[in-house]
Amino acid sequence: MLLQYTTVILSIWCLLSGALSGDTDHSLDACSQIIQITSSSTKVYYPGNPSYIKAISHWANGTSTQLSKCVVEPTTAVDVGKILKLLGSNRTPFAVKGGGHGTNPGFSSTPGVHISMRSFSSVTYKKSSQTVDIGAGLLWDDVYAALHPHGVNVAGARALGVGVSGFLLGGGYSWLSNQYGLSIDTIVAYELVLPTGQVIQASKLSHPDLFFALKGGYNNFGIVTGFTMQAFHQPQVWGGTIIIDGANEPIVATAVENFSNNVKDTKAGINTLYNFSNGSISIVQIIFYNGPLPPAGIFDELLAIPSLSKNIKTSSFQAFMQAGGILETDSRALFHTVSPLKFSQTLLEVVRNETLFWGTYLASKSGTFVSYAIEPFDAKIYTHNKTATAYPADRSTPFYPYIIWFSWTDPSFDQEFYTAARESSDRIRDAAFSDGQIDILDAPLYPNIALFDTPLEKMYGINVPRLHRIKTAVDPMNVMGLAGGFKL
Ligand SMILES: Cc1cc2nc3c(=O)[nH]c(=O)nc-3n(C[C@H](O)[C@H](O)[C@H](O)COP(=O)(O)OP(=O)(O)OC[C@H]3O[C@@H](n4cnc5c(N)ncnc54)[C@H](O)[C@@H]3O)c2cc1C
Ligand SMILES: *[C@@H]1O[C@H](CO)[C@@H](O)[C@H](O)[C@H]1NC(C)=O
Ligand SMILES: *[C@@H]1O[C@H](CO)[C@@H](O)[C@H](O)[C@H]1NC(C)=O
Ligand SMILES: *[C@@H]1O[C@H](CO)[C@@H](O)[C@H](O)[C@H]1NC(C)=O
Ligand SMILES: *[C@@H]1O[C@H](CO)[C@@H](O)[C@H](O)[C@H]1NC(C)=O
Ligand SMILES: *[C@@H]1O[C@H](CO)[C@@H](O)[C@H](O)[C@H]1NC(C)=O
Ligand SMILES: *[C@@H]1O[C@H](CO)[C@@H](O)[C@H](O)[C@H]1NC(C)=O
Repeated sequence: MLLQYTTVILSIWCLLSGALSGDTDHSLDACSQIIQITSSSTKVYYPGNPSYIKAISHWANGTSTQLSKCVVEPTTAVDVGKILKLLGSNRTPFAVKGGGHGTNPGFSSTPGVHISMRSFSSVTYKKSSQTVDIGAGLLWDDVYAALHPHGVNVAGARALGVGVSGFLLGGGYSWLSNQYGLSIDTIVAYELVLPTGQVIQASKLSHPDLFFALKGGYNNFGIVTGFTMQAFHQPQVWGGTIIIDGANEPIVATAVENFSNNVKDTKAGINTLYNFSNGSISIVQIIFYNGPLPPAGIFDELLAIPSLSKNIKTSSFQAFMQAGGILETDSRALFHTVSPLKFSQTLLEVVRNETLFWGTYLASKSGTFVSYAIEPFDAKIYTHNKTATAYPADRSTPFYPYIIWFSWTDPSFDQEFYTAARESSDRIRDAAFSDGQIDILDAPLYPNIALFDTPLEKMYGINVPRLHRIKTAVDPMNVMGLAGGFKL
């Protein structure tokens, strides 16, 4: 009896003191316990420390960042396991951040315990197996720089600044994808910390279910500390950026349609951004060839478009990426997506109109930038590897990720921006459907750019029940449910 009263009083006291310090979920307790149970190299930072700010900050800092009780920076997979086990048993909300380029609010941030992967930062090229071990805390910039002296590369992001781990857990469309498939198709093993704290190597042979699930399924199965990817010989490349006045859009549309329908050379790739800022459209046309010079003809039509500037040359892959620069955003940003099966002039005219319409309308709501990115890939992109992946469930019909990107500054307009993105993606989907792309209704949406409320079925299709079974088997207590993201 006395024991019960004491327990009740103690619990009330804990609740009260927690509430007074704003620590209703006992995250602060977790922070101090983590110091005690982990090795001395693992660090915990509190607000005020510069390392704390750096760790919680994101690319779209206004929409993606929350103030955590503390930042934990584990240095070993075993420590990550101890941390996960503790957070799970205390039911403490947490976040795990890779490069922080996710734009969905709460996906890599938390008011609880923020786990930074920063210390997992090594890149090891293994010549004998033609593979590269890559730490989960790296940006692609670091990986490209480390591989450059070896003359090899991996299928990483098409822009600098992006994190290795979120990118690889969500799919990965790379400049090398036309030749080798999605980035996930080139991953041969994961170092994974399970919600129980156990550290495993997940490969096709050792853990086929997890190997499948991690290829698109994000943080539902544990925390990944390292990836092993296939390495490919990297020659000098040819390409760069052409900036075009929006008035020449019809010429761009003709050239992009022709390129995407007719160029079958898998070393060639393009990315076309319809870009609205300051009241008008400009077009950023990026072209790439995975070799020192392209065969005659394939880029001629694109190169002939009247341009404001043109910077095309032969260089190292790393220099090509650096020339593209770092894409910046204002503090608030969203990405959303549609998956067209092809890019016709009719569809591109709708895209042009959407760019102008939303660019103009959203400018009155603190909108600073609207961009629609057309990324035609080779029609065989999903055929390079037969190993099944969580995303996409259906590889029989080619479809292409298409990006809607809005940036703005005033939080009071957040809902208008999310609504605009949904309306715009619906219009582009409907326009493609009317243009004869009837299969667009079933085409999977790309998890790495889908808006936060996209239903799992739209991304993972018929794989959803299998993913649920794998999730329940490895995480029966739903520890990973304490972190944000697309949740199984
Ligand atoms: C400027 C820019 C350029 C882009 N370019 C490309 C491109 O070329 N090709 C392409 O396919 N996509 C591209 N993307 C989309 C990009 O792939 C996603 O934004 C990706 O999720 C970012 O990964 P991150 O690690 O930086 O993100 P984060 O926000 O850190 O993480 C995203 C999600 O992954 C989870 N996660 C991160 N690390 C781990 C881990 N170690 N273990 C478990 N879960 C983890 C997080 O919890 C979160 O839910 C681009 C995005 C931007 C903003
Ligand atoms: C990001 O946002 C957080 C929280 O608002 C803030 O403390 C931090 O300084 C910001 N970081 C950057 C780099 O602006
Ligand atoms: C497909 O991926 C597996 C790993 O799942 C890898 O071992 C294999 O080499 C890949 N096949 C090809 C053709 O790249
Ligand atoms: C937009 O226009 C304003 C005023 O002309 C100018 O100061 C600003 O630099 C422009 N911004 C961009 C991104 O071009
Ligand atoms: C948008 O276009 C302008 C050129 O008009 C360019 O300076 C800017 O970098 C573009 N923005 C992005 C994010 O590509
Ligand atoms: C269309 O593309 C093909 C293949 O690259 C090329 O041969 C042809 O010249 C292009 N058409 C025009 C009008 O440029
Ligand atoms: C342009 O887009 C707006 C908004 O989607 C739409 O109302 C309008 O009808 C479109 N105009 C044309 C010519 O397609």
